[in-house]
Amino acid sequence: MNEKIEHLRQLREQSQQGGGAERIARQRKAGKMTARERIEMLLDKGTFHEIDAFVVHRERNFGMDKQKFLGDSVITGWGTIDGRLVYVFSQDFTVFGGSLSQVHAEKVVKIMDMAVRNGAPIIGLNDSGGARIQEGVVSLGGYADIFLRNTLASGVIPQISAIMGPCAGGAVYSPALTDFIFMVKNSSHMFITGPDVVKTVTGEEVTFEELGGAMTHNATSGVAHMAAESEADALFLIREMMSYLPANNMEDPPFKETGDDPLRTEAALDTLVPQNPNKPYDIKEAIRLIMDNGEFYEIQEHFAENIIIGFARLGGYSVGIVANQPMVLAGVLDINSSEKAGRFVRFCDAFNIPLIVFEDVPGFLPGVDQEHGGIIRHGAKLLYAFCEATVPKITVVTRKAYGGAYCVMNSKHIRSDLNLAWPTAEIAVMGPDGAVNIIHRRELAKAEDPVGRKAELVADYRENFANPYVAAQRGYIDDVIEPSETRPRLINALNMLQNKRDQNPPKKHGNMPL
Ligand code: HXC
Repeated sequence: MNEKIEHLRQLREQSQQGGGAERIARQRKAGKMTARERIEMLLDKGTFHEIDAFVVHRERNFGMDKQKFLGDSVITGWGTIDGRLVYVFSQDFTVFGGSLSQVHAEKVVKIMDMAVRNGAPIIGLNDSGGARIQEGVVSLGGYADIFLRNTLASGVIPQISAIMGPCAGGAVYSPALTDFIFMVKNSSHMFITGPDVVKTVTGEEVTFEELGGAMTHNATSGVAHMAAESEADALFLIREMMSYLPANNMEDPPFKETGDDPLRTEAALDTLVPQNPNKPYDIKEAIRLIMDNGEFYEIQEHFAENIIIGFARLGGYSVGIVANQPMVLAGVLDINSSEKAGRFVRFCDAFNIPLIVFEDVPGFLPGVDQEHGGIIRHGAKLLYAFCEATVPKITVVTRKAYGGAYCVMNSKHIRSDLNLAWPTAEIAVMGPDGAVNIIHRRELAKAEDPVGRKAELVADYRENFANPYVAAQRGYIDDVIEPSETRPRLINALNMLQNKRDQNPPKKHGNMPL
């Protein structure tokens, strides 16, 4: 009996060694943690339970039958983050470069199926050379098996991807199908084809970092959502994000007592919006002043900075924030910001996270590039997302709410539950300048002093139309509030909406403008 236990222990010990000491040393030399170290750091201490540690690949060609590693190139199992169950897979670069064999795919598929069946998030730590070249099409089939699971799990359990090394070719599509992608600066790369292929096909010379590094995907392509300074930072950020999310779509997000007074008012908000409507201010300042303990978990902070998205807590409730940022492009909606916010709204709606919208938007960005790039189609994504969402939805208009953007940014008409405005709000078809130019064109053309007359007309328009009261008279704004009381008003609204029930008509699925 003891011999058998001893044998088991030896096998276990062997499975812990991945591709062996030499390759582990190489991994460390490259500044990377091992697949196991990453899991240990991600999960609560001592909670990881591994399965499939004895699995080996089945390939016989290329002398592969003589190179087998227990567990093959991925480690799978479950554990907890802050005491809450999560499932994990971590690709082991020390075994055939973390490449995806048939059994690697089977292990990932098994753990994904368990995550869906048991209603807990799946976190994938990616570090892989892609398809196991020796296994050919079998490996491609394995990827497709995973893509199908990613898609079916979408909106059922949160799916998180961390890229901690290479992630290339079709392999990128598993992370791309998940909810959030974390990348590590300087050590993670994602691309469909690498720099060599790019050079051969297009003649362009580009480094790995420029083509698919963390900042490229966080700031330029918008593929990734978080840029971490190090692997440890990425794992910490994932743990933090999990604290805002429910385990699955049937649960509410966790309530967390934050100790911040729900009735706290903030006098600084009363003077945040400048007198001059063309002057910017930082909407993140408002977010920090209003949210519990000033904490805001911003997502995609480097991409489409004219809109801000992220998680926070209000009176202990987890909320998703969407806010126009007057500091960047005056807070206009454009292609990238519409996509960024649209996707986030859908995530929050899928996982029962109430939406808080701070609105200061002069409209959609004019321009040939925007029109030819399909702003109509992309802007419609954000509109669709807000219309479709049935979670509690609250809007605070801090300043401008003009034109189509007024409708899009969670207006009353598209099922927002509560629309509040600060006295600084300007809600109209367009800004005073543009409006006067159009409706008084003939008069201004004939005026003796066109500049003076225009100033009068603009002032008149501003007084009569660029304010919150026209909308409030019609009930499009439920209340005009003092900015300082925003926090207690929002927390009261969240309490009031606790049992909200709303649903969309039965259908297979809508046809959102992709
Ligand atoms: C099998 C692989 C492998 C792969 C790496 N290795 N990639 N084995 N299949 N795809 C092995 C190497 O042989 C080596 O084994 C070990 O992993 C480490 O690789 P190195 O090259 O020494 O490491 P490094 O210099 O860090 O370079 C990493 C790399 C490079 C950039 C990932 O290995 C590389 O370019 N690999 C091939 C990438 C690729 O073209 N994959 C296919 C993409 S197409 P030893 O024994 O020496 O430790 C694809 C299609 C998916 O993935 C489609 C889905 C629909």
